Amino acid sequence: MVRSEGARQIGEAAAAAPEGAAQPAPRHVAIIMDGNGRWAASRGLPRFEGHRRGVEAVRRAVRSAITLGIDYLTVYSFSSENWRRPPSEISELMGLLKLFVRSDLADLHANNVRVRVIGDRNDLAADIAGLLDEAETRTRANTGLTLVVAFNYGGRQEILRAVRRIAAAVAEGRLRPEEIDLPTVTAALDTAGIPDPDLVIRTSGEQRLSNFLTWQTAYAEYVFEPGFWPDFDHDAFLAAVGEYRRRDRRFGGLNTGAG
Ligand code: IPE
Ligand code: IPE
Ligand code: MG
Repeated sequence: MVRSEGARQIGEAAAAAPEGAAQPAPRHVAIIMDGNGRWAASRGLPRFEGHRRGVEAVRRAVRSAITLGIDYLTVYSFSSENWRRPPSEISELMGLLKLFVRSDLADLHANNVRVRVIGDRNDLAADIAGLLDEAETRTRANTGLTLVVAFNYGGRQEILRAVRRIAAAVAEGRLRPEEIDLPTVTAALDTAGIPDPDLVIRTSGEQRLSNFLTWQTAYAEYVFEPGFWPDFDHDAFLAAVGEYRRRDRRFGGLNTGAG
């Protein structure tokens, strides 16, 4: 849906302080970018075209996150289960990631964006793993938006790697089992040092997590957006943030009725 510039400005103000806002703006927004294939199919285009347009939507989302003053934006780019796709589609997705890092890294760096990559880097091709390392290393000292790229990422696989790390520490006598607490696990995950997502957005109308941030989303708010990812724009981002801000987060306690 194309909205007028006027409506867009009203939306912006509403996201900053929507009617009846219960929450401050989210600090960490995590997005399951879904529906590239269906976007393409609905236009009679090859799936690749959907993925290519999906990269443009990532650029837009980064700009929106910066505009809205969000500290962390996580994008689910390739799941541990996406290896089940045909080899041709996998190689297209790998190609797009390489293209994205090569063409956008300088721009992200210039915009003070810090890149973090989560997921298993071990079974990625050396050139891809190298580019991901480079993106992190080059932007390490930046202080603006942290863009977390979930690539070859699965929440259960991440927890499994954390369990192995903790078990190794116990086996080596560096840690006693009774010393293992929630922060021990949190710190052993790929997301160590990154606050839990406040808001998870999934496009394309699917209402599932698909192995995304399993541990970290225990108390996240979810917004399911019916549109496909290549159509996700600033207005859609604002609408999701506005919906989040009207939610009542309790974390198991009682609403204090503040405000
Ligand atoms: C999301 O779009 C991109 C990835 C999962 C890599 P899809 O490729 O899943 O598109 P649909 O869900 O088939 O429409
Ligand atoms: C989730 O989307 C993974 C990414 C967006 C990268 P999928 O399209 O792979 O998820 P399912 O298979 O529909 O659950
Ligand atoms: Mg999908």
